[in-house]
Amino acid sequence: MIVPSSGSQTLAATFADETGRTLATPTFERFSDGELLASVPGFEGEVATIVASTANNEDWIELLQLQDAVREVGADEVTTVIPYLGYARQDKAFKPGQPVSARAMARAVSTGTDRVVLVNPHEEAVREFFDLPVTVVDAAGTLADPLPELSDPLFLSPDESAIDIAETVRDAYGSGSTDYFEKHRDPESGSVEITPSDAPVADRDVVVVDDIIATGSTMSKSITVLEERGVDRVFAACIHPVLASNAVSKLRSAGVERIIGTDTIERACSEVSAASAIANR
Ligand code: R5P
Repeated sequence: MIVPSSGSQTLAATFADETGRTLATPTFERFSDGELLASVPGFEGEVATIVASTANNEDWIELLQLQDAVREVGADEVTTVIPYLGYARQDKAFKPGQPVSARAMARAVSTGTDRVVLVNPHEEAVREFFDLPVTVVDAAGTLADPLPELSDPLFLSPDESAIDIAETVRDAYGSGSTDYFEKHRDPESGSVEITPSDAPVADRDVVVVDDIIATGSTMSKSITVLEERGVDRVFAACIHPVLASNAVSKLRSAGVERIIGTDTIERACSEVSAASAIANR
């Protein structure tokens, strides 16, 4: 039985289709004081696979409740698929007094499951924070599927850390070159500065590839640099379209042709599914 959280219903349904497994219909209610109540149908002796992205604080509560609920109704084994692992970027205490948030969340999740599956976590080292087996899935190749025919394409990451993802998308597309910019984020203000590489971009189609688009600052600054250098079309592709606040407007204003994301976070731009990558793990 596959058990979706309220935020991962489309991905969980696609995963159920891919695997031929039954999709459960949990209910999500709220007490009058605002507290959440996630409930599941009974499934004595079955393997429960919870699919729950953690893109906001309430998602975490749902995930922990679903883990407890499936055990309560008799699940023998529990697998927890976290398509988007929130808090993964706070993987160290950057200043005295700060928590290692990723570790705190991983420990909480570890108490309610037998194994964990993560899709492109921000840093793979985050798996060490879990107290049980963790499988990491790479869904980057799917981002090439919706791309139209491109002219002399360049697959570019905003910094070196995402070049592997850009290369995977290029390989899945079948042609093109890869490169990366350099990024500096001011730790106090969070503002982003992009230093371009000397890769020629004039009159080319460029696909900017990153693991996450959160506030959209990294992506929009990268697009602005490309526009200043005479790029033809710019596509923004990411595994996890957090797209917080005004991120979509930032990207549109910067001149993006199209935003392509997976369904690890279900957004209007979630054109491709991570379900196959999870099913084939
Ligand atoms: C950071 O290292 C990540 O790879 C992304 O570049 C970052 O999370 C994007 O954040 P934002 O959209 O807020 O600039």
